[in-house]
Amino acid sequence: MYQAPLPPEYADLGPDETRARIQAAKAALGDRLVILGHHYQRDEIIEHADFRGDSYKLAKDAAAHPDADYIVFCGVHFMAESADVLTPDHQTVILPNLAAGCSMADMANLFQVRNAWKGLTQDAGIAPEAIIPVTYINSAANLKAFVGEKGGTVCTSTNAPTAVRWALEQGQKVLFFPDQHLGRNTGVKLGFDPERDMVVWDPFKPLGGNTIEDLQRATFILWKGHCSVHGRFTVEQIEAARLAHPGVNVLVHPECPLEVVAASDFNGSTEYIIKQVEAAAPGSAWAIGTEINLVNRLAKEHPDKTVFCLDPQICPCSTMYRIHPSFLLWALEELVKGNVVNPIVVPPKVKHFAGVALSRMLTVCA
Ligand code: 13P
Ligand code: SF4
Repeated sequence: MYQAPLPPEYADLGPDETRARIQAAKAALGDRLVILGHHYQRDEIIEHADFRGDSYKLAKDAAAHPDADYIVFCGVHFMAESADVLTPDHQTVILPNLAAGCSMADMANLFQVRNAWKGLTQDAGIAPEAIIPVTYINSAANLKAFVGEKGGTVCTSTNAPTAVRWALEQGQKVLFFPDQHLGRNTGVKLGFDPERDMVVWDPFKPLGGNTIEDLQRATFILWKGHCSVHGRFTVEQIEAARLAHPGVNVLVHPECPLEVVAASDFNGSTEYIIKQVEAAAPGSAWAIGTEINLVNRLAKEHPDKTVFCLDPQICPCSTMYRIHPSFLLWALEELVKGNVVNPIVVPPKVKHFAGVALSRMLTVCA
């Protein structure tokens, strides 16, 4: 989304003044404000967050504070949308920089997903009730609404196996979007074979690039989407880390490709990654395949352990990084003046069915 430039008075502020003014604005807003911060945010943002977490925890945190007037979401657009869906109308969700999107979420849109549904149910002749759509939370609210209307659910990297197992109890096939890797890794965790049981749906090809027989046979129809950050991790990096640090534990996010997850020792959401390192023995070494702000913070918080990023070239999520402290300060100072900037408002009809899908996840995966 388009973000207008910051007012000029915010452009040249130094870090100390920015920090002090954020703290002052927070103090002025008191209990009317809750700031949520995703683990990939830079330290200069995380220090102001009332709650930090992965997508699953932050969705629950958003829903758990009905008394606050404002929820300022330091994360990316789909997270703020989910917070708006899960909160009552009297609460306003704010994304400090509207340009903080997610390139993976942008890889599936409603037109394409409706087209895929038509391809599967009409062209390939699969009964609609046999296909349960599951959308990763990294998706637009209108895709969550689609899923809610069709009897499916949302999932996050924390609960994908539970959500997909549930989906396969409701029908025979899962249409999983937009992240093919999380879908494939989850299917493998549940005992499915990627060659035999899964096909990839390319939204730019007729029938997603498949034959009707392949679509009828597959249990998993995986959308051809991926995360550009986690797509950077490779098996070669894991081999190099093991050579340089014998005994190292390799811990990756399940948005990484299957071969990377297979070559790792552990995989899970950002919250899982943090818990693993926290619980690890002093002196242990951890090579981590996820976004660099989180890895660097873990290294700083655990000086008794060796923690480093699998990708020696550094691996940032450029859209998460768009939540610069100046944007946070601007949004907060406008709230102090009584002005809401950058509200995230999901239209009522979308909100209803996206709410169905998100609530289903919270119930199924509680
Ligand atoms: P988590 O839910 O694990 O924090 O993942 C969110 C995300 O966007 C990872 O790339
Ligand atoms: Fe999206 Fe990847 Fe950034 Fe997560 S790390 S917000 S999936 S682009």
